Amino acid sequence: MNRRTLYTFLAASLLIAGFCAVQAMAFHDGGTGSCDGCHGPNDVAGSYSTLRGVDPSSTCFRCHAAAKPTEYQIATDPVPPKGLPPLSFTPGGDFAYLRKNYFWTDANGRRGASSGERHGHNIVAAAYGYSQDTTLLSSPGGSYPSSALSCISCHDPHGNYRVVDSAGTVSNEGNPISGSGSYGAVPTDTSSVGTYRLLAGRGYQTKYAGHLFAFDPPMAVSPTVYNRSEASSDTRVAYGKGVSKWCANCHEALQTGMDGSHVHPADMELGAVIARNYNSYVKSGDFTGSRATAYTSLVPFQSGEVTDPQKLSAELTSTAGPNQDDRITCLTCHRAHASGWDSIGRWNMKGEFLTIAGAYPGIDAIGKGSSDDSTGKLRAEYQAAMYGRDASGFATFQRQLCDKCHAKD
Ligand code: HEC
Ligand code: HEC
Ligand code: HEC
Ligand code: HEC
Ligand code: HEC
Ligand code: HEC
Repeated sequence: MNRRTLYTFLAASLLIAGFCAVQAMAFHDGGTGSCDGCHGPNDVAGSYSTLRGVDPSSTCFRCHAAAKPTEYQIATDPVPPKGLPPLSFTPGGDFAYLRKNYFWTDANGRRGASSGERHGHNIVAAAYGYSQDTTLLSSPGGSYPSSALSCISCHDPHGNYRVVDSAGTVSNEGNPISGSGSYGAVPTDTSSVGTYRLLAGRGYQTKYAGHLFAFDPPMAVSPTVYNRSEASSDTRVAYGKGVSKWCANCHEALQTGMDGSHVHPADMELGAVIARNYNSYVKSGDFTGSRATAYTSLVPFQSGEVTDPQKLSAELTSTAGPNQDDRITCLTCHRAHASGWDSIGRWNMKGEFLTIAGAYPGIDAIGKGSSDDSTGKLRAEYQAAMYGRDASGFATFQRQLCDKCHAKD
C-alpha cells in the first residue's frame, strides 16, 4: 500500500468508525427503536409477542447494564462484590445498589442494616438477579403493584409519548418524532421530540399492571454527558414543570405530604426565605454563600413551571441557586432509580452526620463511623455513593442537607 492509498484507506476507516459510533449511539432516538432490538428473534414474522429478554427489564438490561457502565448504562453488571461500589453516576442512579446489603455494629454493640431493597425502585429483571420488593408490596401513597414494577412501568418502550409544541404539550400521537427530547431539542410545526427520558404520560398502562397514569412527564433537559463523577463539578439536570406530579402517578397521596404518611410536601414554591437560605448555605455553620454559586446536584430544584427547552438548556452550565418561585420536588431528596442510601435518598437521610472529623464515616474509620452514620460502607464506598465528591467540600461535622433550605445550623 503506497502512502496515498494508505491515507485514503485510513480516512475511509475513520469515516466508517465514526458512522458506526453514531449508529451505536442512537437506538431509541426519542421514539421507537428498531423492533428487533427488543423483539424476536424466534418470532413468527410480524408477531411481536416475544421479547429478547425473559421479561421487559431483562430486555432493557441487555444494552443498559455493563461491567464498566458509561453514558446510558444505568446498572453495573455483574454487581460489584462486597467492599466495592457500583460505578454508574447517572442522575437516576445505579440499580446495582438494590443488590448491595450493608450491615454494621455500632459502638454500643447495636446492629444496623441498610438492605438493598431499600435503595431503589425494585425492578423485576429475572435474568439479571433483580426481584420485587419484599416489604413494600405496592407504591406507598398509591397502589402500583411491586410485582409488576419494571423499566416499562415508567418508560414507554415504544417511545410514543412526545412533546408536540413549544408550550410543552405532551401527546402519544401527532407529528413524527425527530429525536430525543432529553437534551433541549425543540418541536417544530412538522416534527415532535420525545418526552424527557422516554417517560410515559397520561393514559399509559402496561399489560402487567392494571394501573393508568394520570399525569404527563416532566419537562427537563439533561447535559449530553451525564454519567460522570461529580468530584470536580456537578452534573446539572435542569428540571422544569411537572416533576412531582409525574411521581404522583404512583404515589398520589405523597404529593401534598399532608396526610401524615410522608415527611415532606413537594411541588410547592420555595418562597423568599427558603430560597435565600439555599443561596447563602455553603455547609454546616457556613452561611456566607451567594446565589451565583449556590447550586448542588445533591439538592436540586425545579425551575418554576418552565416548559421551554431552550430556557432549561441555558441552566445546564449554571451554578446558580434558586429564585423564590422555583419549586421543591420529589427529586430534590430522592433519585429516580436507586442510590446508596435508604429511601433512595440523594444523601444519607438517616444518620446525624455526613462527615465526622473531616472525613466520610465508614466501617474502616476507627471510632468515627460505627454509628448509623456509617451505613455499613467503607469510606471509599461512601464517597462513591456521593458521586465521587471529596469530604473536604463539606463541614468538619456536616449535618443533613435539609439544612440547605432550613438553615438550622
Ligand atoms: C426498547 C424495546 C422495544 C422496542 C424497540 C420495541 N418494542 Fe414492542 N414491546 C416492548 C415491550 C417491553 C413490550 C411489552 C409491553 C406491554 O406489554 O405493555 C412490547 C410490546 C409490543 C407489542 C404488544 C405485544 C403483546 O404482547 O401484546 C407489539 C405489537 C409490539 N411491541 C410491537 C413493536 C414493533 C412493531 C416495534 C418496532 C416498530 C417494537 N415493538 C419495538 C419493547 C420494545
Ligand atoms: C439494543 C440496545 C437497547 C435496548 C434493548 C434498550 N435500549 Fe435504551 N438506549 C440504548 C441506547 C444506545 C441509548 C442512547 C441513545 C438513544 O437514546 O437512542 C438508549 C437510551 C435510553 C434512554 C434515554 C433516552 C433519551 O432520549 O433520553 C432511556 C430512557 C432508555 N434507553 C430506556 C430503555 C428501556 C426502558 C428499554 C427496555 C424496554 C431499553 N431502553 C432498551 C440502547 C438500548
Ligand atoms: C420509577 C420510575 C422509573 C423506573 C422503574 C425506571 N426509570 Fe429510568 N428514569 C426515570 C426517571 C424519572 C429518569 C430521569 C432522572 C433524572 O433526570 O433525574 C430516568 C432516567 C433514565 C435514564 C437516563 C440516565 C439517568 O439515570 O438519568 C435511562 C437510560 C433510564 N432511565 C433507563 C431505565 C431502565 C433501563 C430501567 C429499568 C432497568 C429504568 N430506567 C427504570 C424513571 C424510572
Ligand atoms: C410506575 C409507578 C411508580 C412511579 C411512576 C414512581 N414510583 Fe416510586 N415506587 C413505586 C413502587 C411500586 C414502590 C414500592 C416498591 C419498591 O420500593 O421497590 C415505590 C417506592 C418508592 C420509594 C421508597 C423506596 C424504599 O425502598 O424505601 C421512593 C422513595 C419512591 N418510590 C420515590 C419515587 C419518586 C421520587 C418518583 C418520581 C421520580 C417515583 N417514586 C415514581 C412505583 C412508582
Ligand atoms: C425534603 C425531602 C423530601 C422530599 C421533597 C420528598 N421526600 Fe420522600 N422521603 C424523604 C425522607 C427523609 C424519607 C424517609 C423517612 C420516611 O420514610 O418518612 C422519605 C420516604 C419516602 C418514601 C418511602 C415511604 C415508606 O412508606 O417507606 C416514598 C415512597 C417517598 N418518600 C416518595 C416521595 C415522593 C413521591 C415525593 C414527591 C411527591 C417525595 N418523596 C418528596 C424525604 C423527601
Ligand atoms: C429545597 C428546599 C428544601 C429542602 C432541601 C428541605 N425542605 Fe423542608 N420545606 C421546604 C419548603 C418550601 C417548605 C414549606 C414551607 C412553608 O410551608 O412555608 C418546607 C417545610 C418543611 C416542614 C414543615 C412541614 C409542613 O408540612 O409544612 C418540615 C418539618 C420540613 N420542611 C422538614 C424538612 C426535612 C426533615 C428535610 C430534609 C429531609 C427538608 N425539610 C428539606 C423546603 C425544603
